[in-house]
Amino acid sequence: MTPHTITAAASGTWTLGDLTVNRLGFGAMRLPQTGEAFATDAVPRDREQAIGVLRRALELGVNHIDTAAFYFSPLRSANELINSALAPYPDDLVITTKVGPGRGPAGDWIPHASPDRLRGQVEENLRQLGRDHLDVVNLRVVGEDSIAERFGALADLRTAGLIRHLGLSNVRPGHLAEAQAIAPVVCVQNRYGIGADPEQDTLLRACGDQGIAFVPFYAIAGAGGQAGLTGGESAEVRAVARARGASPAQIRLAWTLARGPHVLAIPGTGDPDHLVANVAAGALRLSPAELASLDSAHAAG
Ligand SMILES: NC(=O)c1ccc[n+]([C@@H]2O[C@H](COP(=O)([O-])OP(=O)(O)OC[C@H]3O[C@@H](n4cnc5c(N)ncnc54)[C@H](OP(=O)(O)O)[C@@H]3O)[C@@H](O)[C@H]2O)c1
Repeated sequence: MTPHTITAAASGTWTLGDLTVNRLGFGAMRLPQTGEAFATDAVPRDREQAIGVLRRALELGVNHIDTAAFYFSPLRSANELINSALAPYPDDLVITTKVGPGRGPAGDWIPHASPDRLRGQVEENLRQLGRDHLDVVNLRVVGEDSIAERFGALADLRTAGLIRHLGLSNVRPGHLAEAQAIAPVVCVQNRYGIGADPEQDTLLRACGDQGIAFVPFYAIAGAGGQAGLTGGESAEVRAVARARGASPAQIRLAWTLARGPHVLAIPGTGDPDHLVANVAAGALRLSPAELASLDSAHAAG
């Protein structure tokens, strides 16, 4: 690392409960395979490359990693890679995981966990990460059903000391209110980025008003989703990128971080050069004119 290397500290900090993190973090979903996440024919990523990316992320000041026990390919597990690369974990590292969805040993999706099965998923994460408690656990949901029973089950595990802080993922505004009535929510992790559904802007602002972190996923991948970055970029993003000598991916990250001090980034990559670029995006400060142009691209969907 040269004296000029930009680190994640340049993005500023946010506090999840009592855990302070740099706003520019890392998502581990891309590590177990190359190409599309969860693909049945996924090609496992080179182990040394994945381990190298994780260690480099920490060297670059990343201290917030997002993961899940269901991030695995036939031969690689994100949690196992994190454990192998980073344990014994530095005191300032915050690992956020998510429960709810599950996959069988062959990678097939199984029904979401019922309240009584969430403890098993929490313990699975503890085993794989080699920890005796989890820093942050998001309840990842689908649909609009009540989350009270499932979130209540996680709140019990928090009281029991297995979990330090709770969050939500893929939720609607009503879910946040429902959960907050049961236990404090420190973060909401939803799909968001330039062109996202306007309902997400409302939720982003509601999180800011309540001091809750809003943590976008697919901020770079956008419409590509789990397939990843599939090309096709708006003229506005390309123009700002060109003017700043940055990549469209960096501009997308900088724009999400500019949405509020409570917005955290967790870009996912298995490419060491992309990692460095993503961390550097945390230092980009977009001008009012650039933000206005990108906002118009966002509004266009
Ligand atoms: N809660 C949920 O439901 C949920 C759902 C999905 C994801 N997540 C979490 O959110 C994280 C972020 O999502 P994501 O991994 O899809 O990340 P992303 O940041 O939206 O995009 C990742 C894609 O962009 C590429 N990429 C990354 N950095 C790049 C750069 N600087 N230049 C060009 N291409 C770049 C990656 O390919 P390369 O590997 O080639 O760089 C990959 O195809 C995940 O890792 C996961 O932890 C949560």
